[in-house]
Amino acid sequence: MGKEFSLTPRKVAKVQTRWRKIVTDFPVPQSVTLLEKLRANEARSMRGQPPVIWDRAQGVNVFDPYGNMWLDFSSGVLITNAGHGHPDVVAAITETAKGPLAATYCFPNRHRAELAAKLIEISPPEMEKVFILSTGAEATECCMKLALTHGQRISPDKNVVISFADGFHGRTLGAQLMGGSDALKSWIPAPIRNSGCYVQVPFPDGFRQEDTSFAVFEKTVADAGVKPGRVAMVIVETYPGGSAQFLPVEYAKAMRAWCDKNKAILVFDEVQAGFGRCGKWFGYQHYGVQADLIACGKGISSSLPLSCVMGRAALLDQYEPGSMTSTHSGSPICCAAALASIAVIQKENLVENAAKVGKVLGEGMCKLMGKYPDHIGAAAGKGLVAAVQVVQPGTKEPDPEVAFDVILNCVEQGLLFFAPVGKGGGTVKISPPLCITEQAIREGLEVLDGAFAKVLGALPAAAK
Ligand SMILES: Cc1ncc(COP(=O)(O)O)c(C=O)c1O
Repeated sequence: MGKEFSLTPRKVAKVQTRWRKIVTDFPVPQSVTLLEKLRANEARSMRGQPPVIWDRAQGVNVFDPYGNMWLDFSSGVLITNAGHGHPDVVAAITETAKGPLAATYCFPNRHRAELAAKLIEISPPEMEKVFILSTGAEATECCMKLALTHGQRISPDKNVVISFADGFHGRTLGAQLMGGSDALKSWIPAPIRNSGCYVQVPFPDGFRQEDTSFAVFEKTVADAGVKPGRVAMVIVETYPGGSAQFLPVEYAKAMRAWCDKNKAILVFDEVQAGFGRCGKWFGYQHYGVQADLIACGKGISSSLPLSCVMGRAALLDQYEPGSMTSTHSGSPICCAAALASIAVIQKENLVENAAKVGKVLGEGMCKLMGKYPDHIGAAAGKGLVAAVQVVQPGTKEPDPEVAFDVILNCVEQGLLFFAPVGKGGGTVKISPPLCITEQAIREGLEVLDGAFAKVLGALPAAAK
């Protein structure tokens, strides 16, 4: 976590396959001036990703301007579910812009009306209304606002938010208060951070948290001194980004029953999991429970910034006309892009493809774990998302160095990943566009396997 990729070019082997082409050193020598310019002018926080200059991106491939082509295992960060630069999405964006129609604030536009109806059509029946926003953090924060508003109507002290350890819901204040990483919250003044209104329970991943029973949830809430009746909201990522582990179904059902009993709003953060990623339209449908609210983003448009909150009408309708809006809510170009992306996912059966090709990915994960049992502590996922947790040999401690080197080695061979994520920066995350084929997944898995072999083979004997 936080490690910077070097800008000093070094020789790498040439690669030429159907999906990958590497013809230069890495980073590309001609790209260094531009990369240095970015480093000189931008906040340091923006240096986190491998130094690949994206020139164009299409389907499952990303191209730089120097003749290199990557097979993309990142989808940006789980954005381009319908594939990069899909012609239908590009046409929807350009046609709307050419209208010309670039912005409407909260004045109605046709694209917003069509998108709102479409979102309700493709989602489970309890998703009765929608509020369109721009970013994932806005959506998760809006869920919190709606749940707390609802809670305070029941009782003024119904103001506690339960979320999960190591969870991530965005980088704005409310989102980080709900988040489960102490390191990310260190900037928040202690009286706000420690208000007692934000409590995290362990995520029952069966790896670092071995007891996966719902009793742990109840005990953690009780140990925090919170009476269940004070809980306004429980928010959970459908799967945590850093582990891609799903809740045990029994746990999810017990959590739903607990929320019902205690009049708490249950929110699934679907920012990563939605729009076919996990082999169903919405990842939480794997649990067989209803949500009160969901927060969506990223793959909703496969392109431009768009997010939304969906849920029960009684929650979405709490605010008076004009009192819950955002300048770019339902911006016509973004809505047109989202409509086109959803249509592509439907027309090309990408939800089904994610489930089918996801099986190959799942088998690949099992093989990888079996091959490197001392260094891969856990590997999980569903559909076309998976996370490989790299650990120091024989422990559950993350190994960010090996994760970083494996990713760098893959990128040098034309397989694109984003930088390591998850606890201690030890997770290699796999999340290709949903249009990927079995053959392409197999090729990527071979490259990943080879990268592990190379990086682990080069470790000093004491670290093996
Ligand atoms: C699960 C989850 N929730 C919320 C967010 C925040 O979304 P955004 O970066 O669009 O604000 C992210 C972003 O990575 C996420 O993965």
